[in-house]
Amino acid sequence: MFNIIIKDNYDEVSSEAFKVMKEVVKKKDCVLGLATGSSPVGLYKKMIADHKSEGTSYKDIRSWNLDEYVGIPHTHEQSYYTFMHENLFDHIDIKEENVHVPCGEGDNIEQNCIDYEKSMEGVTVDLQVLGIGSDGHIAFNEPGTPFDSLTHIMDLTEQTRQDNARFFDNDINQVPTHAITMGLASIMRARKIVLIATGANKADAVYGMIKGELTTDCPASILQTHPDVTVVLDKEAASRL
Ligand code: GLP
Repeated sequence: MFNIIIKDNYDEVSSEAFKVMKEVVKKKDCVLGLATGSSPVGLYKKMIADHKSEGTSYKDIRSWNLDEYVGIPHTHEQSYYTFMHENLFDHIDIKEENVHVPCGEGDNIEQNCIDYEKSMEGVTVDLQVLGIGSDGHIAFNEPGTPFDSLTHIMDLTEQTRQDNARFFDNDINQVPTHAITMGLASIMRARKIVLIATGANKADAVYGMIKGELTTDCPASILQTHPDVTVVLDKEAASRL
């Protein structure tokens, strides 16, 4: 079930997402599912500000991230491991041993997928943060990914690599071709989801997620079957609803 909130600008969108987060992190040992991309950056900034001003503590909070590129070291400036540390973890009191980011390095990525899924055994994410790709992907589950998928390796589409080239000197050739990602079934286990989308280039994907048919052609449409999804949008992203 979707609770749809439409706001005028990115700062207001981030504030609405933060309200959902703040309710959840009141439970001091909650589990967070975290996302990368530009969409959640404003939310993370508000979490950092709140930690610094209100003393909200993350010391007993555990987190699992959605995805990671394959083939770049986790220390690479564009790895999602680095992104999470720079945009959130380094500025709050979460413990390094409590954060989990899939590992896209090594000779046996299949095994990394199995290990990551195992690390989540018996864990229920209280709040999963999501963005959405312009082709309707969530995490790195591209169109065609089965709804029952667990953590797996994904071939990135040309469109996704093009969209993400802005982080790689606008050079698509530098964007990795594969990623390790939680599957759609892994994401759906979360108790609650908050999805953030802004900008006109997300309008079609947002429409497909909310009003389109339930189809793997739009992976985010699986969220139609989740009981508790707050979608926070700006007017441009909501323009086709
Ligand atoms: C990447 C990430 C997704 C993210 C999407 C949109 O593909 N793997 O998790 O939702 O980009 O990113 P942005 O928020 O930068 O538009």
